[in-house]
Amino acid sequence: MNAIKKKRKKSLNSSRNSADSIGLDAIPVPAHVAIIMDGNGRWAKKRLLNRIKGHEKGSQAVRTVVQSCRELGIRYLTLYAFSTENWKRPKSEVEALMSLLTRFLQSEKSELMEKDIRLRVIGQIDRLPANVQDSLNDTIAATRNGSSMDLILALSYGARAEIVQMVQKLGAMIQRGQLTPEAITADLVTDHLYTRDIPDPDLLIRTSGEMRISNFLLWQIAYAEIFVTPTLWPDFSKQELLQILSDYQHRERRFGAV
Ligand code: IPE
Ligand code: IPE
Ligand code: MG
Repeated sequence: MNAIKKKRKKSLNSSRNSADSIGLDAIPVPAHVAIIMDGNGRWAKKRLLNRIKGHEKGSQAVRTVVQSCRELGIRYLTLYAFSTENWKRPKSEVEALMSLLTRFLQSEKSELMEKDIRLRVIGQIDRLPANVQDSLNDTIAATRNGSSMDLILALSYGARAEIVQMVQKLGAMIQRGQLTPEAITADLVTDHLYTRDIPDPDLLIRTSGEMRISNFLLWQIAYAEIFVTPTLWPDFSKQELLQILSDYQHRERRFGAV
């Protein structure tokens, strides 16, 4: 192995690799990819369509990206689908998003099972309508043994709310005498987030060109490689994902060391 390859190998978090079969270097793909799926509304506006049409088209892109990541051997895929702040949108848009989510879960359940993909959710799930929670619980239960990839949907998710509930839990432990403030470590904090048994994202992708995080995984992305593409989410393709992964493979991750 030459020096560059060795260095790259050292700098990348790995997972099983099948990327070489579709043209990426025969080195590991990131274990965890997280995506801020943005730009559905602008995609629709450009076509003089209702925003809802953008969300519908966006859900097709979700299907493509889930299957592509699974084929590439990416072990964890987290998709930011609905933020705590998105509750502020008009009722009609929120309702359309919820019904789209239910339809997505129903139509994808068998595919997820067949492809051995485990569905998980992070966020304030109890704020979702009861029928959406039922669909989620049904698909989560049906896919719980999936071992090829974890698909994590961030729904009614906000990183600040996640951090607040973690602080409340640790505070309650201190109050009960189960914990001292000095015993709080970064690992203990990690263990009390929604993502407790999920490794931190290696690669964070945001579509539609906005250079911001919008309250997504604030603690977990401390050392994620960030890639922002101007492509609007409904236009995001497998080909673009491959290009981003190829870019990622050429980055050197240092984690603060030299
Ligand atoms: C992302 O697209 C989907 C959600 C946030 C639910 P947007 O709806 O934010 O689309 P833009 O940003 O208005 O184009
Ligand atoms: C981020 O997109 C949230 C999701 C993709 C679900 P937003 O469109 O809500 O974020 P801002 O308002 O541009 O920051
Ligand atoms: Mg947006």
